Amino acid sequence: MNPFFHALGNRAVQSWQALNFDPRAFPALAARLLQETNPAQNADLDTVLEDFLLAEEQPFQTQSGFGQPELVVFDHPRLYIQLLFWMDGTTDIHQHEFDGAFHVLQGSSLHSTFRFLDPKPVSAHLRTGTLKRLRSELLPTGATVPIRAGTEFIHALFHLETPSVTVVLRTHTSPGTGPQFTYLPPHIALDPFHHDSLTQRRKQLLDVLDASGHPGFPKLVFEMLDVLDFERGFFILQNCVSALRSRGLWNNATKVFKKRHSSLAKAVFPTLDEIVQRDLLAGLRGAVDEPEHRFFLALLINLDSRRDLYRLVGQRFPGKPGATIARWMEEIWETVPEAVPPMEARLEQLGAAGTGGG
Ligand SMILES: [Fe+2]
Repeated sequence: MNPFFHALGNRAVQSWQALNFDPRAFPALAARLLQETNPAQNADLDTVLEDFLLAEEQPFQTQSGFGQPELVVFDHPRLYIQLLFWMDGTTDIHQHEFDGAFHVLQGSSLHSTFRFLDPKPVSAHLRTGTLKRLRSELLPTGATVPIRAGTEFIHALFHLETPSVTVVLRTHTSPGTGPQFTYLPPHIALDPFHHDSLTQRRKQLLDVLDASGHPGFPKLVFEMLDVLDFERGFFILQNCVSALRSRGLWNNATKVFKKRHSSLAKAVFPTLDEIVQRDLLAGLRGAVDEPEHRFFLALLINLDSRRDLYRLVGQRFPGKPGATIARWMEEIWETVPEAVPPMEARLEQLGAAGTGGG
């Protein structure tokens, strides 16, 4: 067991015990301890990894799929410390069912916080509302941020370097603050731990019909959309959006869904548009090698205003942000021209059209 995180964990247990294990006190305590001990400066990551791979005495490891991967480096009945490795840029927009704090151990991240306004439960696992981005900031190595359980802390971390590593000092769970919703901007919140196996298998079967060119595929999708409840209809629509668009049948599908769900359907189409656009930009980011261009694409995926785009570009690169963006767009035009039209569409959406171009 690594001595640095063992000492940090024991100190957290003792300090929190002095506060009677009050969950409301834990985020500030965890943030203070991470700031004071400063793992980015004082924990040697190579030593931690060597210990984890070679020493037999290790804390209990979870089956969590969060992190790429997650290593538990301290475990106690009241709290634990996890190291999260990130190979991809993005984590979903989410809230937590635990309290604590995170610290950027290696790399840097674009961090955004949100509020979900006017939430309306549709089922136990799905809500509609409007996700409002509050703030986006660049977190350098060594930055620490408290995590509050529940809807008052909704956030997303987009990791800019590969791999990025974060340390999380956290409770196991803070009861009554779930579900740990994931948010699909601008209008849908989902419980990601709700597993509807039948819908999962139906989506997979539809993928088979789509991929094999089955002539009955569109009709079957329409019939499903005509009878399914909102939650499952949304999942089917989300799963089939690309297949229906490529067949020129998207408008037909939206008509069926709108007829079935009337005003509730309004939440769905801007959300699916945003998913498609983000996926497209994220895919293009995978084809781009230059770190400055990858940074720019990360901003385009995550931001929704010209003001924040210019602020964050200016923060990292000296000079006029508009000129920097125009240069990047020209460079991308020369290297990955297919990335330019979707990037221009996003710039237009952000109110920054005309900043660059091919
Ligand atoms: Fe988080």
